[in-house]
Amino acid sequence: MKIGFIDSGLGGAKVIETAIELGITGDIYFLADLKNNPYGEKHPEYIKKITIENVSYLINLGCETIVIACNTATAVAINDVRKMFQNIKIFGIEPAIKAVVDSPKKGIVLGTEVTLNQKKLNLLAERLNIKDKLELISANKLVKLIENNASNEVIDEYLENIFKPYDLKDFSHIILGCTHYPIVKNNIENIVKKYNNEIQIVDGSIGLIKNVLKSCPKVDYLNLTLVLTEHSDLFEKQFKSIVNHSYNVILK
Ligand code: DGL
Repeated sequence: MKIGFIDSGLGGAKVIETAIELGITGDIYFLADLKNNPYGEKHPEYIKKITIENVSYLINLGCETIVIACNTATAVAINDVRKMFQNIKIFGIEPAIKAVVDSPKKGIVLGTEVTLNQKKLNLLAERLNIKDKLELISANKLVKLIENNASNEVIDEYLENIFKPYDLKDFSHIILGCTHYPIVKNNIENIVKKYNNEIQIVDGSIGLIKNVLKSCPKVDYLNLTLVLTEHSDLFEKQFKSIVNHSYNVILK
């Protein structure tokens, strides 16, 4: 059973860590597209093109299931990818905005600008009738800070500024709409809880992996291969600190 994951970088590593924790098995490929990182600052058409290329690459390696472990690539490309590869199971990740449906308060969706501007999110919010309950906040720069291994002080200062214009008492949920953000979940939690101790942080990758596991038969081995579009010692160092499993590397 070969399963391929893709992301621009460390966000996918965090999803792989969750997948391992929840019991994924088989031959797992994780394509980290470091050459094009960050996606959130690229044109949607370009992200679509590279996502299709990266998915094709993993399918050529024998993957029968693909997990787009990236909100940005899912938002712009999943419909086309599903149409193009109809015999492959394709999973994607979207901001878990459902969390606020039954809440009397509002939710903040943190994501890249590309994710937040896509029709897909807007349509889902309309369908759930929660458009007025969502505050969409673009945190593009957070991806770069995480990839560059910025200090907690720098990350906290950036986050403080992001939340400054809002009265966090009005909100019940912070929805992490980018797979990189769970890496700094503790930083986010520490900051928002200073203003509202009840606020909940929502990470959609757990639901994603539970769905993937339902459709993948369990085997008795786990081989992990990291596919890099560009070599980076810093990335591998950070990957190892997130994912506690041995792996091979191939360069795409
Ligand atoms: N981790 C990705 C996401 O979920 C990509 C972020 C980026 O490369 O800007 O949106």
